[in-house]
Amino acid sequence: MDMRDDIQTVLVTEEQLKAKVAELGAQISRDYAGKDLLLVSILKGAVVFMADLMRAVTIHCSIDFMVVSSYGGTNTQTTGLVKIVKDLDADLTGRDVLIVEDVLDTGVTLSHLVPMLKMRNPNSVRICAILDKPARRKTDITADYRGFEVPDAFVVGYGLDYDEKYRNLPYVGVLKPEIYEGE
Ligand code: IMP
Ligand code: MG
Repeated sequence: MDMRDDIQTVLVTEEQLKAKVAELGAQISRDYAGKDLLLVSILKGAVVFMADLMRAVTIHCSIDFMVVSSYGGTNTQTTGLVKIVKDLDADLTGRDVLIVEDVLDTGVTLSHLVPMLKMRNPNSVRICAILDKPARRKTDITADYRGFEVPDAFVVGYGLDYDEKYRNLPYVGVLKPEIYEGE
């Protein structure tokens, strides 16, 4: 049982991801020079990108994690409501927060989260998403830093899951349709 056999198409290769992460890390290092950078990753999808991005950042930074969940929905859809399951440990006062996300899809999650974090008196709150699906957007949110634009398809790999699987796939791909059978 090799999970790679379930992939129909590779959308973003390991090499492309590596090059883009290096580029984003360099850009963030320049932009946040002299700032109190706090990278905030939303578990679990962004954990792979976070681990790579933080090592591409050459200035001092801290990291923190939060868990959010949406109420209801199926494995491939989210509803409009978001709740914090595990909050940040860090105090955001005066800090420059960069949210590290796996994919900006409908934008519903971050359109709720960004105002909540801004209420904690940070100096700034920005978004870095490795994938962007603008065709799916339901809010006017955009990523300040973004890796790759992907089409309106459900993708897996590089942290992104289907039914908690495929997060460990080192590239981003689309599953064969038979994998979704029964949903
Ligand atoms: P939102 O729709 O922008 O709020 O995205 C919420 C979350 O849904 C993302 O952070 C991902 O964890 C998940 N998600 C969105 N699109 C995909 C996908 O294509 N594959 C796997 N997870 C996804
Ligand atoms: Mg997910």
